[in-house]
Amino acid sequence: MNTELDKAKLELKEVGYLKIETPSTIDFVAEIKKLKKEKNAVILAHYYQEPEIQDIADYVGDSLGLSQVAATVEADIIVFAGVHFMAETAKILNPNKKVLLPDLNAGCSLAESCSAEDLAAFKLKHPGHVVVTYVNASAGVKAHSDLVCTSSNAKKIIDSIPKDQPIIFAPDKNLGAYINKETGRDMILWDGACVVHEAFSLDKLVELHLEHPDAKIIAHPESEAHILKVADYIGSTSGMINFVKTDNSKKYIVGTEAGILHKMKQEAPDKELIPAPAKEDNTCACSECGYMKMNTMQKLYLCMKHELPEVTVDEDVRKKALIPIERMLEISAK
Ligand code: 13P
Ligand code: SF4
Repeated sequence: MNTELDKAKLELKEVGYLKIETPSTIDFVAEIKKLKKEKNAVILAHYYQEPEIQDIADYVGDSLGLSQVAATVEADIIVFAGVHFMAETAKILNPNKKVLLPDLNAGCSLAESCSAEDLAAFKLKHPGHVVVTYVNASAGVKAHSDLVCTSSNAKKIIDSIPKDQPIIFAPDKNLGAYINKETGRDMILWDGACVVHEAFSLDKLVELHLEHPDAKIIAHPESEAHILKVADYIGSTSGMINFVKTDNSKKYIVGTEAGILHKMKQEAPDKELIPAPAKEDNTCACSECGYMKMNTMQKLYLCMKHELPEVTVDEDVRKKALIPIERMLEISAK
């Protein structure tokens, strides 16, 4: 452990995220492209990432698309430009590949709302229930689940379960309530929520719509019921992009994290996109996920250079968590 690099690696391992300074003259785009080739690495990015990260990624998608790609990827290294549960899902699917996350602290309020221990105790209180877990959860929580779903396939996954089978849905109560309404079920809902989607203000949204009566309101199902009630379209991030691309209106108020606007503009350049207003936001009137935005080009570059921080999953937990993820992928492919 004598070289500077070894010391740096040790420090990165200990603190869990990258602290090394890089000179401001570095051309991150060129360097990241070089590292991708040299290391046979693939960059998977979520739509909520910074535009420059999305632009350098090999694949940009929603949670379902990202896990489908992660399940088939051939590279030696998967660099996940997203949040921890996404990188963990990629690791569960690829135990023999190195999975990197530019900032290990990139968490998720939904994943944090539900620990494996609490879910296990909750299951004991509700015997005979099938547990369906939204993908925004830790590997430990997935290991206690019968099925995983994303916002793209939640309805399909729930519809695949016999009507008379009681279900626990964790951890997103808003998505769960929306799916209850869509399917006529009465699933028991875990009390978790996304801080970003719960921040939308109905009053401000209605005001904004009065200013733009020709705009359609589109919303992610992690939003609260009163927001979903006024939405013309409800869907996952890729569903929302597809809707704007194919729908015949010209203007949309977009109720999800603002990072999506980058891909939406690229896919539908002739459409006007207005971010839905957040309750506390009097500046940019848009919602950003602080966790997603922890990843930067600098951290992406450093993590590829040093192959750290790496996402790991206990093998026993991984094997258990793989079962409901694979079930989801199978049902989604039908
Ligand atoms: P989707 O990309 O599956 O729509 O989910 C949004 C989200 O909040 C990811 O954390
Ligand atoms: Fe989690 Fe919400 Fe951020 Fe998605 S947007 S990662 S659900 S906190």
